[in-house]
Amino acid sequence: MLENIAYIVSAVLFIYGLKLMGHPRTAVRGNLLGAAGMALAIVVGLLDVSSYTMVIIGGVVGAGIGAVLAMTIQMTAMPQLVALFNGFGGAASVFVAGGALLQQENPTWDVLLATGLSGLVGAVTFSGSVIAFGKLQELKILQRPIAIPAQQAVNAILLVIIIIFTAGLTYGFSWVYVPIILLSLLLGVMLVNPIGGADMPVVIALLNSYSGIAAAATGFVIDNNVLIISGSLVGASGVILTNLMCKAMNRSLTNVLFGVMDGGGAIADADEVYVNVRSTSADDVAMILDGAQRVVFVPGYGMAVAQAQHAVRDLGNLLEKQGTAVEYAIHPVAGRMPGHMNVLLAEADVDYDKLKEMDHINPTMETVDVAIVIGANDVVNPVAKTDPTSPIAGMPIIDVDKARTVVVIKRSLSPGFAKIPNPLFAADNTLMLFGDGQKAVLDVVAAMKEV
Ligand code: TAP
Repeated sequence: MLENIAYIVSAVLFIYGLKLMGHPRTAVRGNLLGAAGMALAIVVGLLDVSSYTMVIIGGVVGAGIGAVLAMTIQMTAMPQLVALFNGFGGAASVFVAGGALLQQENPTWDVLLATGLSGLVGAVTFSGSVIAFGKLQELKILQRPIAIPAQQAVNAILLVIIIIFTAGLTYGFSWVYVPIILLSLLLGVMLVNPIGGADMPVVIALLNSYSGIAAAATGFVIDNNVLIISGSLVGASGVILTNLMCKAMNRSLTNVLFGVMDGGGAIADADEVYVNVRSTSADDVAMILDGAQRVVFVPGYGMAVAQAQHAVRDLGNLLEKQGTAVEYAIHPVAGRMPGHMNVLLAEADVDYDKLKEMDHINPTMETVDVAIVIGANDVVNPVAKTDPTSPIAGMPIIDVDKARTVVVIKRSLSPGFAKIPNPLFAADNTLMLFGDGQKAVLDVVAAMKEV
């Protein structure tokens, strides 16, 4: 009884924490509330344990690895870490459900069904997340999908075999748990292998949801209410995020899951696209900004790499002092994780009201005097609108090309995550300010002070 009351308190803390995480101003408090709920659930869960030796060994090793990873990870590698954590969540479900299968004496068919589901979804989450990790890490071998003939048919056959084995499990053939896991691991690789380019954010959100579903199924296996509740919360919020990401990318989920990453078209030759690139200097940019009425910053992954958010805020403040209207245009998949740019700009104390979502700012881009693209590439690539065979085809972009002048700050003409050239860099109204994002912006700030 007391245990269940404590679990309800945990669940309330999770739900209220999630609600607070919906806004940057309350997100830290929401995170702490969620962590408090989890701490309570762990303490109460531990009261049920008969021997603490393995719990202590597992806890020390797991918490040690987690703490070292969390403290040493670069901010820019955070999305990969999140992908791995999803995967480890799935693997934990596989082991817990497998352990329960070994221990339970006469499990009922519904518990066995939950065990099979836990194994299936947990293993798909694990291997799928490992592949997603590799893609986000930009490992060469995973840049292009491995060609597998009749991939969808193979996936369907795999799933049917796994379902047959799971049915066998409910009849008490516990050995089938091993082939369920092995085939599900293969299925996870097969499902994520063809996805990439602009669709990665959707996959990460989906894998996150899967890890929750696996945990909820494991909750049924070991009869733990708080695991069922927290797993369902992760599963449901992952589905909501997946849906939001699909909308942001103008994709249907079936298109992401069953489409192929490279639309089959030839990727344009960068040398041809970049014939007319014009580069500029910090002094020239300062002069252009001097007369600007309205300036919009468009941050992307490179701002995170350069840690340029503080410098960008300083430039923004300087512009405002001279009477220029300053806004920040946020693309839903800029960076490498949902909300990446919002987090960075909030860290630099940029007023949240100045952050404008893509749909909100796009209709007004024609009245922007200067659009400063800082470390963004794919999210401002007009090819998304013009080439239906491109890997980012159909993805809405921030229409910086409509601004009177576009200043693009990046180190070179290298492509972004989707690995395609960007004709914006050679447009008539674009000037390239080559250099590290932070240094380039600080140079512009210094030059503006001299103008
Ligand atoms: P990207 O298209 O990845 O472009 C980033 C650009 O930043 C690069 O072209 C790079 O050019 C530049 N850069 C790197 N380091 C820099 C530095 N120190 N200073 C200045 N520039 C630097 O970024 P984006 O426009 O934000 O687009 C995001 C992409 O990631 C999309 O394709 C999206 O689908 C994908 N993705 C997003 C997510 C989520 S949820 N946001 C998750 C997975 C994948 P140089 O090397 O020339 O400097």
